[in-house]
Amino acid sequence: MTDELDAGELLGRDELEALQLTRLRATLRHAYERVPFYRESFDAAGLRPDDCRSLADLARFPFTAKTDLRDNYPFGMFAVDQKDVRRIHASSGTTGRPTVVGYTQGDLDNWADVVARSIRAAGGRPGHKVHVAYGYGLFTGGLGAHYGAERLGCTVIPASGGMTARQVQLITDFRPEIIMVTPSYMLTLLDEFERQGVDPRTTSLKVGIFGAEPWTQEMRREIEERFAIDGVDIYGLSEVMGPGVAQECVETKDGLHIWEDHFYPEIVDPFTGEVLPEGEEGELVFTSLTKEAMPVIRYRTRDLTRLLPGTARVFRRMEKVTGRTDDMVILRGVNLFPTQIEEIVLRTAGVAPHFQLRLTRDGRMDALTVRAEARAGATPQERTAAARAIATAVKDGIGVSVGVEVVDPETLERSVGKIKRIVDLRTP
Ligand code: DLL
Repeated sequence: MTDELDAGELLGRDELEALQLTRLRATLRHAYERVPFYRESFDAAGLRPDDCRSLADLARFPFTAKTDLRDNYPFGMFAVDQKDVRRIHASSGTTGRPTVVGYTQGDLDNWADVVARSIRAAGGRPGHKVHVAYGYGLFTGGLGAHYGAERLGCTVIPASGGMTARQVQLITDFRPEIIMVTPSYMLTLLDEFERQGVDPRTTSLKVGIFGAEPWTQEMRREIEERFAIDGVDIYGLSEVMGPGVAQECVETKDGLHIWEDHFYPEIVDPFTGEVLPEGEEGELVFTSLTKEAMPVIRYRTRDLTRLLPGTARVFRRMEKVTGRTDDMVILRGVNLFPTQIEEIVLRTAGVAPHFQLRLTRDGRMDALTVRAEARAGATPQERTAAARAIATAVKDGIGVSVGVEVVDPETLERSVGKIKRIVDLRTP
């Protein structure tokens, strides 16, 4: 195994930290010299790039938020001449301007390298066929996965998202070993395999590399069992690079190794911004260490997780993401994440792994209804029992009362990419 690791993965912890500091200082200087936003924010904090003398000093520097990227739309955060920007990606978000990111040729090379490393950590090897069902286009998922798989020496099947019946046919005919797709779209494919009368356990697939949205251990179990594959987690975000910022190793499946030679992680208290010690849950913050076109300094991801020491790699791990601060629902003072409901629904007999959270306002109080889909063939008694079991598990486990509706099979909207779990029906 180790003979297949790349130079970055073979560093010792001390060597890695020395490399991080060198790269961090160069990144701070590059950002300060080339991006007015960073110059102003460092100046306002009374800091110069050279004030960063240790990795811990980074905590003195100001954060960057998504709104800063929006305020500098479209190219104000770029740190190189436009002629050196080889590619643009953008994420739409729910409101307003998209967030735009740029890459030099060097950035694209590094990105392909970290995605190749990710696919290898997932069990991919040169010569494997990789079916990419992440969307191609401005979204980073498709192209990010694509170039990484090519870099590793795989054969890429650039299916992109959608046209589900055709995806199933391609998988059946081309016989890929690996699929890269959101976990929610993998469930949509599962239904389609069954609809076409193909047993999902008999496909050529051996590994699924799932990410772009939060998913739970229960979801892993469901997908692994029903497809007879290994399922591993891939994390990333466009502002920092795209997919391939962190990846779970197939041999341990114990959280995601952050490719720390390119991305420096911190966990902060989402309210105070205080850096939290290793092991405590908080908001993940990233500083890029090698990016040229768009360096990011202390970018607040809004993703909640914890940092843990390395296992299968020298790099630290992040635990599976619990959710985004934006997706947290506050019900009568209790914080609730869609992943908590996912754990419960997927453990409940009689319901399928499809659910939706509907938020309504009841007078001055918010109310939540979990809509879960009955498994095909579930009897009315089983459906009632499932609804009751979900309500009880939410009450006992999370500490809040919710409504539960078990709806007919195949009635909830299916995902073709990132799933939207929360349907907000509250009137403004
Ligand atoms: O979703 C990049 C990506 C593509 C990652 C394909 C993995 C696979 P954005 O569209 O910018 O980029 O969305 C980034 O998605 O801040 C998280 O909230 C969420 N996210 C991404 N990966 C995971 C994951 C891509 N493995 C946002 N687990 C991030 C939980 C994830 N959430």
